Amino acid sequence: MYLLIPAAGSGRRMGSSRNKLLLPLLDKPLLTWTLAAVKASRSIRWVGIMGQPNDFPDFKEIVSSLGMTKCVHFFPGGATRQESVYKGLQALPAVAERVLIHDGARCLVTPDFIDRCAAELLHCPGLIAAIPVKDTIKVVEPVTQLITHTPDRRHLWAAQTPQGFAVEPLIRCHQEGVAQGWEVTDDSALFEQCGLPVKIVPGEESNLKVTTPMDLAIAESILRQRGV
Ligand code: CTP
Ligand code: MG
Repeated sequence: MYLLIPAAGSGRRMGSSRNKLLLPLLDKPLLTWTLAAVKASRSIRWVGIMGQPNDFPDFKEIVSSLGMTKCVHFFPGGATRQESVYKGLQALPAVAERVLIHDGARCLVTPDFIDRCAAELLHCPGLIAAIPVKDTIKVVEPVTQLITHTPDRRHLWAAQTPQGFAVEPLIRCHQEGVAQGWEVTDDSALFEQCGLPVKIVPGEESNLKVTTPMDLAIAESILRQRGV
């Protein structure tokens, strides 16, 4: 299975001066944990990491510290996650039929879960990891800050990564997104906009995306609990 890792963000919400993927989590850079899970997965044979070129020396050091240099490729990312993924898709080898996409920032993903997503992807054109929403979600009018409605929580799932797709339709969806000016925060949204089916793979609650300093503290506590 082919895997693309968007890692070209800046971590604005983390409030740090550098890419959050290079911040220490326990004793290693955050991205090391993500890549260690990728390394331990049995299904992933080819990895493309999209990053900002000034982060590449640090990324390369992480990859070589894990001893996984052979199957890992680096590609320049874009100004948004959407652009970074599109660039990665264009850099995939022509023989790639299906691809998993996993955010560098979801560093607690397990190798087993990656493998489960890879196996499921052989049977459907699109899937995402997701978990049932625990909170009651409100839709709010941005100017008045008044609630417009409360969607039924039983239908709400929080999207995670990995997300996986057949490559050819996903590239077409990205092209359509550029043509129509769609701005989305995951690849599933492009597939959905194009009317293509995306299946849910029930995810792992611990597979959080490290976004704020609080997430970093939670991730650290989960890793300690795992006894790593
Ligand atoms: N990402 C990317 N290219 C971008 C922006 C984000 O590849 N131009 C990646 C991030 O590196 C991250 C993933 O997409 O692994 C999810 O994005 P997010 O959590 O939003 O990370 P950042 O964009 O870095 O954080 P922020 O939005 O707080 O600036
Ligand atoms: Mg972002």
